[in-house]
Amino acid sequence: MGSTLSQRIIDSLGSLDYVADRVQPKVQAAVAKGGKRTKNLLDGLWLGSPLHPALTDVPIGSWTAALALDGVDLVSGSRAARNGADGALAVGVAGGFAAAASGLSDWRYLSGGSRRMGVAHGLLNTAGLALNTLSLVLRATGRRRAGQLSLLAGYSLNGMGAHLGGELSYGYGLRVNRNVFEDPGPDEFVPVLLEGELPEAGLRRVEAAGPGAEKVGVLLSRAGGELCAIAATCNHFSGPLEKGEREGDTVVCPWHGSRFDLCTGEPLDGPSVFPQSRYEVRVRDGNIEVRAVSDNVQKKVR
Ligand code: FES
Repeated sequence: MGSTLSQRIIDSLGSLDYVADRVQPKVQAAVAKGGKRTKNLLDGLWLGSPLHPALTDVPIGSWTAALALDGVDLVSGSRAARNGADGALAVGVAGGFAAAASGLSDWRYLSGGSRRMGVAHGLLNTAGLALNTLSLVLRATGRRRAGQLSLLAGYSLNGMGAHLGGELSYGYGLRVNRNVFEDPGPDEFVPVLLEGELPEAGLRRVEAAGPGAEKVGVLLSRAGGELCAIAATCNHFSGPLEKGEREGDTVVCPWHGSRFDLCTGEPLDGPSVFPQSRYEVRVRDGNIEVRAVSDNVQKKVR
C-alpha cells in the first residue's frame, strides 16, 4: 500500500478537483498580479523559511490558549480569564487570515493528490476560521456561551485541517528542501568536465560522485570571472536548473521561477527559500574538479 489513510480518503473525493479547477487559476492570477515582491513575501523568502508553517503557529497557539482560558472562566468565573480568552481568540483570528493567504500561495503550484489534499486542508481550516470569527462576534454581542461552543467546534475542524497540512509536508514533501534527498557528493575533488567544454556564458550539468558514492547533479557555470558549482536540482520541487534561463550571474528554475545565485546558491526569488547546495571548484590539468562543501544540507542529515 503506497499511500496513507488520509491520502486514500482524500483521493476518493473527486469533487475536490472540481473546486481546485475553479479556484487555483484565480489564486495564481491574484498572486501574479501582486508582483514578485508579494510572491516573495508570501513564500517567506525574507524569512529564509517557508512562511505558511511559521504563521500557522499563531492561530494554533492562540486558539489553544483561548480554549484553556474559556475553561478557567467556566470553572472560576474569572474576568481576567474571560478577557484573556477573548484577546487570544482575536489574535488567532488575525493570524488565521494571514496563514490562509500564505497557504493559498503555497497551494498554487500543486497538482494531483497533493492539490486535492490542499483543498481539503484549506476547506477545513476556512470553516474553522469562520467559526472562530463567529465566536468573536458572539462574545462581543453578549452570547458568551454560544461563542465558547463556536470556538470549540472551530478548533476541532482546525485540528483536522492541521493534520492534513502535516500530510502535505511529510507525505508529499511540500516546502521541503529537496536537496536533502540527494547524495552528499564527493568529499575530495573529482574531475567532472574538461575546462574547454564549459561555455563562457552558459550552464552545464555534470554528474559527480566520490568513491563508492551515488552520483549527484552539479550545475557548472562561469560567473563574475570565476568557476561556480551548485546543485543542479532545484530544491523547491526538483526542477532541472540546467534547463533554466540564465539572468546575469543567476539562474531561473524552469518549473516555478525560483532564481538562484550561480556561485552562492542563495535564493533571490521564490518560491524556494532555501539555498542550493554548493560545490568547491578548481582546475587541474585542464579538468574542472568539484567537491562538496561541508555546510551542504545533505551532510547535516547523513
Ligand atoms: S521546482 Fe519549483 S521553482 Fe524549481
